[in-house]
Amino acid sequence: MDSTDRKPPKTPRYSDIDLTRWRTYDHIFTDSLWLFPSRAKAGGHRLDYHGNYIPQIATQLFTRYTKKDEIVLDLFLGSGTSALEAINLGRKCVGVELKAELVDYVREKIPAEARTHVRFITGDSGAETTADAVRAAL
Ligand SMILES: C[S@@+](CC[C@H](N)C(=O)[O-])C[C@H]1O[C@@H](n2cnc3c(N)ncnc32)[C@H](O)[C@@H]1O
Repeated sequence: MDSTDRKPPKTPRYSDIDLTRWRTYDHIFTDSLWLFPSRAKAGGHRLDYHGNYIPQIATQLFTRYTKKDEIVLDLFLGSGTSALEAINLGRKCVGVELKAELVDYVREKIPAEARTHVRFITGDSGAETTADAVRAAL
């Protein structure tokens, strides 16, 4: 097949994936979204918080369901896996976390040049005031 035979790109509303070529992507896994032999350690990720999730899950989710420059909302930010992976993938993040000290910790983990791409909200995700803060941040 030469380049003139190639179908025109077909990109869904919710991602940058070209659906005519998805089989050729080696960074998007179609066998499992959850099962990985080991935790990725690059990109600022560390196993530094009980219950933080494997970064590759964030990678797969954000790649499949967001476009570049879009905003990921994580209402249980924890140690910031979503925030780190969002900026690694050229997305932005709004993160809500109950524990102020954890928010300070995650803020320090974000590279200085990317800090404007992450908004932190300290508070209860279920509270109306938090919902207002999220709307304002978005
Ligand atoms: C399992 S951890 C999330 C870990 C995160 N996905 C990561 O990879 O680092 C859950 C986090 O949600 C926070 N949390 C629990 N209830 C909350 C609430 N109602 N509003 C905001 N944060 C909450 C906890 O303090 C905890 O840090």
